[in-house]
Amino acid sequence: MAVFMKGKDLVTLHDWTSEEIWQTIRTAELIKTMSYTGQPYTPLTGKTLGMVFTKPSTRTRVSFEVAIYQLGGYALFLSAQELQLRRGESIADTARVLSRYLDGIMIRTYAHRDVEELAQYACIPVINGLTDYVHPCQALSDIFTIYEKLGRLQGVKLAYLGDGNNVCHSLMFAGAKVGMDVIASVPEGYEPNEQVIRLAREDARATGASFHIERDPRRAVKDCDVVYTDVWASMGQEAEHAARLKVLQPYQVNAGLLAHAKPSALFMHCLPAHRGEEVTDEVADSPQSIIFDQAENRLHMQKAILALVM
Ligand code: CP
Ligand code: NVA
Repeated sequence: MAVFMKGKDLVTLHDWTSEEIWQTIRTAELIKTMSYTGQPYTPLTGKTLGMVFTKPSTRTRVSFEVAIYQLGGYALFLSAQELQLRRGESIADTARVLSRYLDGIMIRTYAHRDVEELAQYACIPVINGLTDYVHPCQALSDIFTIYEKLGRLQGVKLAYLGDGNNVCHSLMFAGAKVGMDVIASVPEGYEPNEQVIRLAREDARATGASFHIERDPRRAVKDCDVVYTDVWASMGQEAEHAARLKVLQPYQVNAGLLAHAKPSALFMHCLPAHRGEEVTDEVADSPQSIIFDQAENRLHMQKAILALVM
């Protein structure tokens, strides 16, 4: 059954139903096949997406910009530095004004509350392109990538190693909605947010998914289908970099650790990677690594999200 998603915001994946998430995956699959066979698909002709950034980006910016262009629409890059927001205009007024010009807003920023507020006051879809709390577009394309590689999501075991950050939170929300078993292997003090753990466990009850923390990285990767990591110091945490390196070192994904996983286990990373820190070159460039397929799927997934909500 098709679900009507036009006008929906994407603030966190906890807000989306399993049906909506599955429909987005199927749409991404279809759009990817169409693009590989050269069939144009331009449902957003004449539509404009505003893209607000207060943090840097390579993948999210380029994939959204190319996605809306290929769907027939136009992308407007809005550096938050150059908006009146910087001079104190409220988020609510910015949302009301942008809603009069645009057909959708994608925003990447620090405070998650700012995205919630933008979505509250905008009457066009607001898509979260990463906050300190979550990175939903990343997790959607990650589960799409896992589905392509393994042909299923139900019961897939994913071990996330390192810092229990925004990427980890979205993988937990996504996994809970599609029946995956997510294990976070994190040191003390770097656990995922308690609210995310509670909400993901609530969602997991309906799908048979599970979530648990395993301190020992070797035990965490044992029997896993996917080993996932992300940077140890996220954007905005640069000052903590040195301290984090020390604490997180035992969670580095290197060949020694990967040897404790099944030989068929896939390695994933949202990128950008700090090679030599959370992952070694040997693993990132190994046949088990699917990091560039994962990055490519950001494009197909952004198209699916835009086509469905705009
Ligand atoms: N993975 C990801 O969001 O990359 P960017 O920071 O380059 O957008
Ligand atoms: N956790 C990282 C993800 C980057 C895509 C960060 O927030 O910087």
